[in-house]
Amino acid sequence: MEIISLQTKNTTYQMGITSNGFLLHLYYGKKIDCHMDYLLTFYDRGFALNPYDAGKDRTFSMDVLPQEYPCYGNGDFRTAAVNVRNSRGVYGCDLRFRALTKGQGKYQIPGLPAVYAEGCQAETVEIVLEDRAAGVEVTLKYGILPELDVITRSAVIRNISTEELVIEKAYSGSLDFLQGDYDVLHFFGRHTMERSMERYAVLHGIQSYGSKRGMSSHQHNPFFILAKDGADEEHGSCYGVSLLYSGNFNCEIEKDQFEQIRIGIGINDEMFAYPLKPGEVFYTPEAALAYSAEGLAALSQIYHRLIRYHICRGVYREVRRPVLINNWEATYIDFTGEQIVDIAKQAAELGVEMMVLDDGWFGDRNDDCRGLGDWTVNEKKLGSSLAVLSDRIHSMGMKFGLWIEPEMINENSSLYQKHPDWVFMIPGRLPVRGRHQLVLDFSRKEVVNGIFRQISRVIDSAQVEYIKMDMNRGIHEVYSAVEGYQNHGKIMHEYVLGVYDFLERMIARYPKLLIEGCAGGGGRFDAGMLYYTPQIWCSDNTDAIERIRIQHGTSFGYPISAVGSHVSAVPNHQTGRVTDIHTRGVVAMAGSFGYELDLNQISDEEKEEVRKQIQDYKKYWSLIHNGKYYRLHTPGKDTEMAAWNFTSEDKSEALLNVVSLDTHCNSPVTYIKCKGLKADGKYCEEGSSRIYSGSALMEIGVPIPIVMGEYRAWQMHFTEK
Ligand code: GLA
Repeated sequence: MEIISLQTKNTTYQMGITSNGFLLHLYYGKKIDCHMDYLLTFYDRGFALNPYDAGKDRTFSMDVLPQEYPCYGNGDFRTAAVNVRNSRGVYGCDLRFRALTKGQGKYQIPGLPAVYAEGCQAETVEIVLEDRAAGVEVTLKYGILPELDVITRSAVIRNISTEELVIEKAYSGSLDFLQGDYDVLHFFGRHTMERSMERYAVLHGIQSYGSKRGMSSHQHNPFFILAKDGADEEHGSCYGVSLLYSGNFNCEIEKDQFEQIRIGIGINDEMFAYPLKPGEVFYTPEAALAYSAEGLAALSQIYHRLIRYHICRGVYREVRRPVLINNWEATYIDFTGEQIVDIAKQAAELGVEMMVLDDGWFGDRNDDCRGLGDWTVNEKKLGSSLAVLSDRIHSMGMKFGLWIEPEMINENSSLYQKHPDWVFMIPGRLPVRGRHQLVLDFSRKEVVNGIFRQISRVIDSAQVEYIKMDMNRGIHEVYSAVEGYQNHGKIMHEYVLGVYDFLERMIARYPKLLIEGCAGGGGRFDAGMLYYTPQIWCSDNTDAIERIRIQHGTSFGYPISAVGSHVSAVPNHQTGRVTDIHTRGVVAMAGSFGYELDLNQISDEEKEEVRKQIQDYKKYWSLIHNGKYYRLHTPGKDTEMAAWNFTSEDKSEALLNVVSLDTHCNSPVTYIKCKGLKADGKYCEEGSSRIYSGSALMEIGVPIPIVMGEYRAWQMHFTEK
């Protein structure tokens, strides 16, 4: 068997080509120097189909063998990665190996986000499979980043027939495992409670989850982990799969009749039917795979590094982002320019570096029933032009940012009067509304152009250094009003391409602009979006205690630098809970830090705490942004204390964060152990003369004081002596 081996520093990924041209998946895991085709076994399995060219050999069946990119149509009844339909309505294909090429550097994908290999070595391997009879050619692309221990996958599907084909399913990748007990770590949620971690054993049959909402969604995240034999934070084998895509996706995990596991991830095949004319190609989004033999923390750290330096782009990839204040929870939609200036003035005085003007500055946007689509400044409401307001903010030494929601429209807007056909709406049916708004057809160039023109005119009119790009409803009825448009099975994907195009144009025109993603909080928190927006508003839930759970779940697949996190007012607007400002600050510092309240409304003592928080955040920023992140508790399981720590790459510095979740009278003492330090290092604690050994901090831990009241927080900073 011809073997294809992909190697990273610590992992091996191996495929084999059978004599009849099937591309089998042989192995992915800890680095190995061995041809793994010895793992394959051949038995005559009851009811297993055999390819015609296997002749009389009843032991060769695609229904049993591990495959690299399983297709429907060759005798494999398990989850397929690809399926096509020809013009006569015939489904399926039988892909066989045709060619292999290898080259230096990492491939990119037209119109889609992809990992890039700046400053590190990378290789691209392409494997071409084809079925001439079905008229399909599939090029599997592999990007290998050896230093990062990451392998990316994507596929290019070409119509090599003389008639139109329809792609019914096209996953980014699939992985087969011959054996093992696996758990899935899946990140589910809802608006204001995104990415909660859930762990369950893979069962027989198919477990699947995904999104059909036009966005990656609050409900399920396109990142998951497969953990073997009970792997935990520090031990055991685990695999991560992250899809760089922000639209409808699906993830399937199947345990078959022989206890073999198959996982597949890619665009959701529901409401997807992508027509390809002869010669046309389709690019799947990219999936980034990683493996850790040392547990979940190491796996997360691979993704943190990957996303921070090889997915996020722009000046703010490495530069500290300004500490911002956003007026949303301070005023909601109801504000004047003077109020914004007042909020900014107090914030600037305490050290905040940027004022962000949220929803309500444009069109006739005085409530959420109107205005979306009209990206002209409401000067009446602001009492001035945007340029004047932004100048006033800048004169305080602050930067200025603006909220937009380009993909949406209210019927009550001039844009709707002018271009009702720009909206997703099925003729003859009343539309389904969400937050009183409808969705613009971003699959159409002229729509993206029109919105881009409006928004760039505003940005050009004032000094704007930051944009919060929001998206506040799911997409349900897709219909493109372009005359003669036939294939609505491709709109959901073309819509996502339109959003990416919009963002790419923003980046090209305003290379210094910081863009924060948002979709009702974290409804579009995925590695695809992070290619355009290096941070995303993590959740509309700003309650410090609930945020701990959300940020814990988010940290499995995404770096702290990507997490927009703010201190807000109490009682918290989402839960009514009261926590002190120190606790809110400690929690918000596990992210790209900011405020979301009117600082004029807090006490002098709290103002002093805000001043200190900003100084601390600036001091610890590099450790938080670039350091290794360790989860020290599991929400739901550890009910007394939540804890996490950041450790610098060289282990010379650590920041331990602890929040008490409960309070008891005369309670036992909790000791929290740090992670990632040098066992034989000596560390001193900031503000104390005490010296600790790394092994004491990691193996015994530090006692957390017993104090009155729950939701107290501690931050301890250790530096190596
Ligand atoms: C969404 C965002 C909020 C805020 C509002 C404005 O809900 O997540 O932060 O910007 O929209 O309408």
